[in-house]
Amino acid sequence: MVLEDVDPGGPEHRRLELALKGAKRGRDLVKQILVFSRHAEQDRKLLALSDTVEEALKLLRPILPSTIEMVWRRSEGDDVILADPVHIYQILMNLCTNAAYAMRDKGGILRLGISRVILTEGDRASEPDITPGEYVVLEVRDTGRGMEPETLERVFDPFFTTKKQGEGTGLGLSVVHGIVKSFGGHITVESEPAKGTSFSIYLPKADERLCTVGKHTTPVAGGKERILLVDDEDIMIALDEERLTGLGYEVVASTSSEEALEIFRKTPDRFDLVITDYTMPNLTGIDLAAQLLMIKPTIPIVLWTGYNEAVSRERVQKAGIKAFLMKPSDKNTLAATIRRVLDGETDERRG
Ligand SMILES: Nc1ncnc2c1ncn2[C@@H]1O[C@H](COP(=O)(O)OP(=O)(O)OP(=O)(O)O)[C@@H](O)[C@H]1O
Ligand SMILES: [Mg+2]
Repeated sequence: MVLEDVDPGGPEHRRLELALKGAKRGRDLVKQILVFSRHAEQDRKLLALSDTVEEALKLLRPILPSTIEMVWRRSEGDDVILADPVHIYQILMNLCTNAAYAMRDKGGILRLGISRVILTEGDRASEPDITPGEYVVLEVRDTGRGMEPETLERVFDPFFTTKKQGEGTGLGLSVVHGIVKSFGGHITVESEPAKGTSFSIYLPKADERLCTVGKHTTPVAGGKERILLVDDEDIMIALDEERLTGLGYEVVASTSSEEALEIFRKTPDRFDLVITDYTMPNLTGIDLAAQLLMIKPTIPIVLWTGYNEAVSRERVQKAGIKAFLMKPSDKNTLAATIRRVLDGETDERRG
C-alpha cells in the first residue's frame, strides 16, 4: 500500500519493492517447508527451465563469493516442465551454496547446464527407481573438495552434515531430494575427493499439449458488497480494511470473533460476505463460521489463515467455508477470491 503512494522513480520505491520481494520470498519459503513436510498443494505451472534458472541465478550470483567463477549453459530447444518456480529456486539455492562451501578455500568453477535426455527401460538396470521417458536435466557441477564414499552415501539423509555443529542443518539436500521426488523426478550425484562434485536433477519433460495451465491473470475487480472482516490482529485489520475499501467494498471490521458474531447476529442482512482469520482466541474462524451459517446459511465465508498446516482444505469445505486465503495474500489474489466467492463459485466447483 505504501508502494502505491510513493514516487515510482525514487529510492524509497526501490527499497520498498525489495522489502516486499523479501517478504514474499519469506512467505514462499515457509510454504515450501510445509510442502516438503506435508506434500501440501503446489503452485505448478508450465515453465521453460532455462528461463527459470537464469532468473534464479541473477539472485544467486551476488551471494556467492567472487572467487567462484560461474559458467552457465542454457538448453538447446524446448525444456518445458511442470513445476513450481519457487521449488526450482530452492533446488538451485541449496546446490549452489553447497558447491560454494566446497570451494570456499581455493575458489573454483561452478558449472550449471541444462540438457535433455530420454531414459529407457535399459537405464533402469543402474537406477531402478526411474520411470522411462523424456527428461530435462539440470546439472550443477563444482570443482570443490569433493566427497569420500562414506559421505556420498549419506548426502540425502535428513540432518546429515559434515559441517561443524551449529553451522549446517543437513536439511539442504534432503529438501532438494523431496522436491525432485514430488515432481516425479530423479537425482544422481557423482563426486571424487579433491576433484569435485556433480549433481544431476532429472525432471520429467512436460507435454505442453496436455497441460491447460492458464498464463493469464485476471485484472483486479472490486465490488460494492458489504463485508464483515474479522481478525484479532489490529495491523491486519487496518491493512485489509483499507485494501477492501480501496476495492470499493463497504467494510465492517472487528478484532474479536465474539464481537463479530454479535454484530452479525443483530443485522445478518447487512452483510454479503464474511472474511475471517482462523487463529483467534475463544472462538476460532471455523467455529465462528459454523455459528454464522446457523444464523444465515447462505452467507459466503472466506477463511484467512497464516498456518497452512493448522487447517486442511477438506476441513474448510466441510465447515461450509467457500474459500481460503493464505496470509499474506497480494491484492490480486484477495480481490479475485472475493469476487469468485461473491459470484457463487467455490473452490470445490473449481476442482
Ligand atoms: N557440492 C558438494 N561438495 C562436497 N560436499 C557436499 C556437496 N554438497 C553436499 N555435500 C556434503 O553433503 C552434506 C549434506 O549437505 P546438505 O546440503 O544436506 O547439508 P549442509 O550443507 O551440511 O547443511 P545446510 O544445507 O543446512 O547448510 C554436506 O555437509 C557435505 O558434507
Ligand atoms: Mg547445504
